[in-house]
Parts: sequence; structure tokens; C-alpha cells
Amino acid sequence: MNASSGAPVALWQQLQAVAQALAQVRRGVSGTAALDAVPSALRPGVQALLFQVLRQLGRAQALRAQLAPRAPTLLPDALLCSALALAWDADHAPYEPHTLVNQAVEAAKKTRALQGQANFLNACLRRFLREREALVQATDQDTQAQWNHPAWWIQRLQKDHPVHWQSILQANNQAAPMTWRVNTQRISREALQLRWHEAGIASEPVGEQGLVLGQARAVREIPGFDEGLCSVQDAAAQCAAPLLLSGLNRTQGKNLRVLDACAAPGGKTAHLLELLDPQDRVIALDIDPLRCERIGQNLQRMGLNAQVLAADAARPQTWWDGQLFDAVLLDAPCTASGIVRRHPDVRWLRRETDVAQLAAIQKNLLNTLWPLVRPGGRLLYCTCSVFKAEGDDQVKTFVGHNTDAQLLPSLGHLRPQTIAMSTALTDNLSGDHDGFYYALLEKKLAL
Ligand SMILES: C[S@@+](CC[C@H](N)C(=O)[O-])C[C@H]1O[C@@H](n2cnc3c(N)ncnc32)[C@H](O)[C@@H]1O
Repeated sequence: MNASSGAPVALWQQLQAVAQALAQVRRGVSGTAALDAVPSALRPGVQALLFQVLRQLGRAQALRAQLAPRAPTLLPDALLCSALALAWDADHAPYEPHTLVNQAVEAAKKTRALQGQANFLNACLRRFLREREALVQATDQDTQAQWNHPAWWIQRLQKDHPVHWQSILQANNQAAPMTWRVNTQRISREALQLRWHEAGIASEPVGEQGLVLGQARAVREIPGFDEGLCSVQDAAAQCAAPLLLSGLNRTQGKNLRVLDACAAPGGKTAHLLELLDPQDRVIALDIDPLRCERIGQNLQRMGLNAQVLAADAARPQTWWDGQLFDAVLLDAPCTASGIVRRHPDVRWLRRETDVAQLAAIQKNLLNTLWPLVRPGGRLLYCTCSVFKAEGDDQVKTFVGHNTDAQLLPSLGHLRPQTIAMSTALTDNLSGDHDGFYYALLEKKLAL
């Protein structure tokens, strides 16, 4: 549909918007923000195409280097690479390659900033159609083309996961399904699944409380959403709250004090509250005041309550009342290298230097929050990353320097996997989920 008139949207219009969004991502803007700038009627179609482009961008860039060794400027290059990403693999192309090429050239002709490049783009893309097989073959040995990730990312995975790096990259290039967490305090998973089934919505169980949809839907169409019976959350992220709370001792029957230190948008805060007693107290902290508003909105929909604070977890002197916590969840800011299935822009946005910078932030948060845990209490450190610098290496160093910290049985590094892969990787969490890292630390009681 046309954004304003309701008329059908031509493919060239969508490609125009895809190229503009890709140019934004290459400038460092997140895919979500780039898509927000697309008129809403165009957005679902443009998002689907953009995600496919981002999942094939390594190949497209290698092909573009064959066709035009000197890269064109930002926008023409974004349009050329978008067309190549969508058309190079005829078996998986969303449209017939000739159609894609014709429409990409049309997009160039109809975009003022691209008109001067239309003949050049036309020449490149026609040559691509004529010589596709040979050009593709010539890029087969290029690892970025093969895996559609930056070279530094591939090398880091090879070092961190010598056995599984290929399956991680394969999973990263798949689209993730829509996964829900059922609020089992209010309805059993089976009962909600039946309600969905009666509404014609197919789902499969995953983990303890999860349901994976056969096909993604708008949240408002999901029975139980408005009533707060379920929330969108990946199955790996659903492990946080039970891992932190199960087996946690209450001191002399007292209510628990729980800190969710990096809480927005509040997915894990809500899960903690679902599992806790109503008298227990949760402080949900986030440094970003706008994101704190989303915690409030999410909790309101679920009928749950926490004290939401916009504050810097690394500066407790500005928000802490001095009372120790029984449990702290530190879902630290990270590269998000584990959630590439859902955010295919992330791999192209990150720089290799980000890993060390984020690891330093995580280390500071861990060291700052640990003294706030009571003896016998627990801190769950997690990141949605598959890089060891943000997971195992971080925690090994922490435990090495803190003799009062004991690492309890934890999930460690979860590798992302799709349903089709899940039976093959038996040492991972079963079912479909993102990449994640979990380490549960207990503070030893003073002797
Ligand atoms: C991975 S997200 C948290 C996701 C959240 N736990 C959930 O499940 O919905 C990390 C969050 O940390 C916040 N953050 C980053 N640095 C922080 C700091 N120093 N103090 C508090 N929050 C911080 C970010 O604003 C971001 O919302």
C-alpha cells in the first residue's frame, strides 16, 4: 500500500526505502531507528527486505567489489548492495532477480539523489544478471561473503567457540520466531496454548514457560496479551528470573529485596515479579529515563509493581538506601552478539573495539554491585552475548579477585539455535533461543 493513498506500493518504492535505511545503518544508526523513519504503511515490507539485505550484506559487498572496485558513494552503494543481497541467490530471492534489478534501477531513476548514478547502477546490475554464476563463485572463498559477518567477528567466534562457531553463524543468519513467556501465576501454559489454538494461532512449548508462535503476529492480536497473561520474550532470556530466585534463602522468613540493575524495558523485571511473593520488593533501575517509562508501561499491563528508578547502577551513592539486597540481576549492557537473529544490523554496527569497551563497563558494574549483595545472597550476571570477553572470561576474572564469591551451577554460554538445529546440539538449552550468558554468583557467609 502507498503510505498516504492506500494504493499498492511498488517494489521500487520499497527498495528506495531499504537503500535509505541501509545507508543509515552504515552511518551507525540502529536498524530500529532507521525503520522508524519509514512511513508506517511501508514499514512491514521494508523491514522484511532490509532484514534479508542485512543477512546477506557480506556477500553483496563482495559482489559489489567485483562489479565496481571503487565503491560508489553511500546511497548508490546502499541501493546497489541491497539489490545484490536480494538477488544473488535465485533460490531464496523474494522476487525474480530480473524484477529486482529492474525495480532497483527504477528506484535510482525516481530518487533525486540517485538519478545521476542510474546508468552506472543499471550497467552494474545488468552485468551481474549476465555473469551471476561466475561472480558468485569468485566470492565464495571470501569469509565475509560466506558467513555474512565482519571478519573480526568470525575470527573472535572461531577463537571463543572452536567447535561451534559455524553453527552460531548459521543460526545468526536465520530469522527468529516470535516467542512468548506465559505468566504461569495466572494461567497454565497449556490453557493459554488452547486459547490460542481456538483463535487459530499455532504454537509450540519451549523451556519452562515459553510458547513459540508458528507465525509472528501483532501483539494486540494475541489472546491474553491485554490481560497481562503473556509477554514477548526469547526463551534464553526467560531463564534469568528462575535461575536467580530458585533456591534463594529468605532470612528468617523476611520479604526479599531484589535489585534489577539494568532493567529496561522490563522483560526480566516482570518475570521476577511474577515469581516473587507480593510482599517482596523489587527496585528496577535503568540509566535511560525514556526506557524507564517502558518498564512502567510493561508492568502496568501485567498488573505488577516495582520501584522504577532512572539512575546509574555504577553510582549507588546516588540511589541506594544502604540496605543490602538478597538478589541482584545484572543484565549488563553488551555487544548483543547473541541476538543477531532478531537484530541483523548489530553485526554491521559493532566495531571490534566495542567488545573491550563494553567488557570494561560490565566489569565496573559487577565490582560496584557486588558489595550491595548480602552474605548468602546472589547476583546473576548475564549478557545477550556469545563473546567470552563478556561472559566466561569476565566471570572467571571476577571470581579470581573476589574470594567471597562462589560460582553456582549456571547455564554459562548459550549458543543461539533455531528449532531445526536444536536436536543436534544436545549440550545447549533445548528448543529455539537466542545466544546468552548466565553466571550465578553467591556471596559466601562470613566464617
Ligand atoms: C540488556 S538491556 C536490559 C534488558 C532488560 N533487563 C530486560 O530484560 O528487558 C541493558 C540495559 O542497561 C541499561 N544500562 C546501561 N548502563 C547502565 C547503568 N550504568 N546503570 C543502569 N542501567 C544501565 C541500558 O539503558 C539498557 O536498558
